[in-house]
Amino acid sequence: MSSAKIYVTRQLPEAALSLLNGCGELRVWEPDEVIPRDVLLREVQEIDALLCMVTERIDEELLAQAHRLRIVANMAVGYDNVEVPALTRRGIVLTNTPGVLTETTADLVFTLILGCARRIGEAERIVREGRWRSWSPFAFLGRDVHHATLGILGLGRIDMEVAKRAKGFDMRVLYANRGRNREAEEKLGCVPVDFPTLLRESDFVTVLVPLTSDTRHLLSTPQFKLMKPTAFLINAARGPIVDQRALYEALRDGLIAGAALDVTDPEPIPQDDPLLTLDNCLILPHIGSASIATRTRMATLAAENIAAFLSGNRPPTPVNPEVLNQDA
Ligand code: GLV
Repeated sequence: MSSAKIYVTRQLPEAALSLLNGCGELRVWEPDEVIPRDVLLREVQEIDALLCMVTERIDEELLAQAHRLRIVANMAVGYDNVEVPALTRRGIVLTNTPGVLTETTADLVFTLILGCARRIGEAERIVREGRWRSWSPFAFLGRDVHHATLGILGLGRIDMEVAKRAKGFDMRVLYANRGRNREAEEKLGCVPVDFPTLLRESDFVTVLVPLTSDTRHLLSTPQFKLMKPTAFLINAARGPIVDQRALYEALRDGLIAGAALDVTDPEPIPQDDPLLTLDNCLILPHIGSASIATRTRMATLAAENIAAFLSGNRPPTPVNPEVLNQDA
């Protein structure tokens, strides 16, 4: 398919672009901003392959325009921005970027744990705004992370790396998952518990499950009520997994001590969102995988998926492999 037309919705590291350049006719949305929907809807009309970000909605409306499209490579491990059944019905392959961002994202989860426990955002603002007057025995007292209890909701690849880091901090690690993870139990000493027990006993609750209709608002007022008033919630998965209004009220009313979010609902968080008025909420702009090396690996893996597919080979990380099996 040497005349294949490929569209990329954001500037990417050179390694990824040069790989794609060798596979067909490449066009890239150049501005460093999300591609406007109408432009994307126009661009998909003539293309065979699309490399997109989590910021693009790949849905029925878009697919109705995309008559030639055969592969969508999402540059993320999560793909809740994509209507997978709609692609599968049309025989379009979806790929994601698992594995290459695991440790970098686990590092960020740990940054969030430490950041909210030790009030890093708040403390940094005081210095930057010239409000720091003197060292004080009572200034910015936080909570210890070492020897505390970490509760992990789920226990996927990234969580395993979080648990590994937690072990280095002498933390007790609980997890609540649909199935048992023997490796986590045997190698890392993770203890399986049910969801309410995890909420009741943890000092830090982290959530990294995929966003689905089952996990939307998985954490809301009833769950916050079960948590300790000294506990923290960490979300580096997807914003809608946490009921953000309920989180605001829980933080305002002291149901829980604090939260650290790498993701919000919506993104970016509106400037008038009440969460931004709270000092006990640390908020980052969705940077879980944002290291130079990891973003390069993600872009390259997304490009490799397209390159393999266009040259008639199996893409390395398909989400709906049944489409490929149909082709065989
Ligand atoms: C980022 O959020 C990802 O899913 O990779």
